[in-house]
Amino acid sequence: CGIVGYIGPKEAVSVLVDGLEKLEYRGYDSAGVAIPGEENLEILKKVGKLAVLKDQLNGEEHCANVGIGHTRWATHGRPSDTNAHPHTDCTGQFAVVHNGIIENYLSLREWLESEGHVFRSQTDTEVLPHLIEHFYNGDLLEAVLVSVSKLVGSYAMAVVSSKEPDKLVAVRQDSPLVVGLGEGEYFLASDIPALLKHTRFTYILNDGEVAVLEKGGVKVMDLDRKEIRKSIFEVKWAAEQAEKGGYDHFMLKEIHEQPKALRDTLSGRIEADNSRVNLEEVTITPEEIKGLKKIFITACGTAYHAGLVGKYIIEKLVRLPVEVDIASEFRYRQPIIEPGTLVVIISQSGETADTLAALREAKRQGARIVAVTNVVGSSVAREADDVIYTWAGPEIAVASTKAYTTQLVSMYLLALHLAGLRGTLAPEKISELLAEMKTLDEKTQEILNDSQVIRDFAREIANSDDLFYLGRGLDYSVAMEGSLKLKEISYIHAEAYAAGELKHGTLALIEEDTPVVALVTQETLFEKMVSNIQEVNARGAAVLTLAMEGLKEVEKVSRKVVYIPRTYEVLAPILTVVPLQLLAYHTAVARNCDVDKPRNLAKSVTVE
Ligand code: G6P
Repeated sequence: CGIVGYIGPKEAVSVLVDGLEKLEYRGYDSAGVAIPGEENLEILKKVGKLAVLKDQLNGEEHCANVGIGHTRWATHGRPSDTNAHPHTDCTGQFAVVHNGIIENYLSLREWLESEGHVFRSQTDTEVLPHLIEHFYNGDLLEAVLVSVSKLVGSYAMAVVSSKEPDKLVAVRQDSPLVVGLGEGEYFLASDIPALLKHTRFTYILNDGEVAVLEKGGVKVMDLDRKEIRKSIFEVKWAAEQAEKGGYDHFMLKEIHEQPKALRDTLSGRIEADNSRVNLEEVTITPEEIKGLKKIFITACGTAYHAGLVGKYIIEKLVRLPVEVDIASEFRYRQPIIEPGTLVVIISQSGETADTLAALREAKRQGARIVAVTNVVGSSVAREADDVIYTWAGPEIAVASTKAYTTQLVSMYLLALHLAGLRGTLAPEKISELLAEMKTLDEKTQEILNDSQVIRDFAREIANSDDLFYLGRGLDYSVAMEGSLKLKEISYIHAEAYAAGELKHGTLALIEEDTPVVALVTQETLFEKMVSNIQEVNARGAAVLTLAMEGLKEVEKVSRKVVYIPRTYEVLAPILTVVPLQLLAYHTAVARNCDVDKPRNLAKSVTVE
């Protein structure tokens, strides 16, 4: 979910709706705002995307210059007008927007009901305004603090009340919240893009911090009302970077931003003479690196797929055993973390609840944590021992693209850093790979410049029900990412298979014209892959092959071939994924899908 707040001279509703537009990637099944009205609060909320609320607001005048807003991704209670935020108490004097989950809401709700409170929604959030009303005794801040002391769970919330209409109170615990500092106006938002139109100066709230926003300024304090002197975080990226910049969709823009994102992520991290990786941010000493026994990588979604590539290359180049886990599995499976274990946490947003919980579990067991994240100051960044930032810039489309390729770059840098210090790879080999990495931006650009075959194939598969992705080794990991991309934005059922496993069951699903995407970039596995393609070909499959330049033989067994520019096998995933991203994109467009905001999904899943 995304939350916003505003206090200042402007008309609040339009500032809030504007901010919510930038946060829709966090959820979009309903939206709403609350502003102080003549007597009570005025609540305007609607199920559906923000556009539905906007339509409703069209033409209405609202003179309030204080308010809060929300765009929802349903957890407790299906999307509906009633379950949309803001939620209020029975008197209508307190309104709350909330991101997170109140785990003990059922017992709180029972207790409040026994005290005479009447609930309207099925949400966990609704307990919040009732609690605040219950504890209100002439001091909104105090009522919020007492309420918060009763909560178990995660929350970023903002509160407005007609009792004290010139004030917003906000609290953060395990869900992101940023305060924007304008001139005589102050903002609240779950994420920075919502603020950029107004200010680049922010306070990034930490867990257990409360902010009180008034026309005269912002105070941040802890839960005991002790004031905290926050340092101002200045956002460096340009507002246009968070806009579409001429592309039809954020996703296409972000796919095309990859050459730059790769350059930015590599910048300053490879010695000019390519002799070694320069990862100053990783503070593990050479002795500790030599003493490493095992690496865990844990993440969700696309970041997990980057972890799979990470495992392969670390095992190959560093000769250390690596386990990759989905974060929601890792956190509950009691992983065995012994001395000498490094845990790598990958998360674009740095706020994914399961990933954060996995980080905490690893930390609790004494592991050393390196985070790979795209968001400076995010929870994952703050809680890890070291952070390798991916400099992809803001990623808005729900389907991750440039975050993935820059996560891969970070995994290569980490692997080559470790290989250099552990002496598992000859210095010349390290130099060759580092020099080659510097060319990947141009090679990505080449792929982007010539996407016709992919577009044609996208049109062909637009009416398919199923699609299979095949690969071996690194190609299998990339196939998984390609298949996820297609599923999430085009809603076509897609599955990735290790090509060698095909004959153990999946082959039964291949019929005349079943579309298959085969990945053939690993020269050492070339012949095996050609045989696997023959197997599906013999059953009539329509095969699109992505092959490394030079592997011409694939043409004999494929209906269509896209070549990726030549590079070292281990680096191929960064290039191979690009046509797969484009394939998913063009297929989704051909099917008239809402590319940037696929149904049921959210960019940043800050609930379990
Ligand atoms: C959501 C997004 C995915 C993303 C995953 C992990 O499911 O839709 O695109 O890969 O979360 O997000 P993170 O921010 O932790 O990388």
